[in-house]
Amino acid sequence: MSNNATNQIGLEKADMSEVINKLNSLLSSYHMFYINVRGYHWNVKGEHFFTLHPQFEELYTNLQVEIDEIAERILTLGGTPLHAYSDFAQHTSISEDKNVKDGNACVKGVVTGLQSLIEEQREVSALAEKAEDQGTADLVDEYVQQQEKLIWMYNAFLG
Ligand SMILES: [Fe+2]
Repeated sequence: MSNNATNQIGLEKADMSEVINKLNSLLSSYHMFYINVRGYHWNVKGEHFFTLHPQFEELYTNLQVEIDEIAERILTLGGTPLHAYSDFAQHTSISEDKNVKDGNACVKGVVTGLQSLIEEQREVSALAEKAEDQGTADLVDEYVQQQEKLIWMYNAFLG
């Protein structure tokens, strides 16, 4: 199945290096979003505390699972996942959101982060499909679908 030009799952190495780079950027964005959501979980105050505090925990717990799946997809494709904060900070499409306490501001931060992930994942999906890497496309497409629904719910919270 594999030769010098293809990786262990029969995909062209040349095409995969672009997909791997994009996945490493996505991995960086997920880490930045993850740590932002932990901040919302810890620092949120006010009348919606008992709703938002556990909701943010559920969100970051799911993000942690996705982070591991993305990193292991990079390895499956023959790449090396980034794992240093300095690299994440350099490659993320999501910025740090520090010391946010207001519930609505936290939810807005979640919506903005999800929108950013979705945008990035649509690009990964298109690139992967072009390289006949349906496995990567399917992985991120599933995240997109789940996150689109989350955006509806978090926006419904905002009213
Ligand atoms: Fe906690």
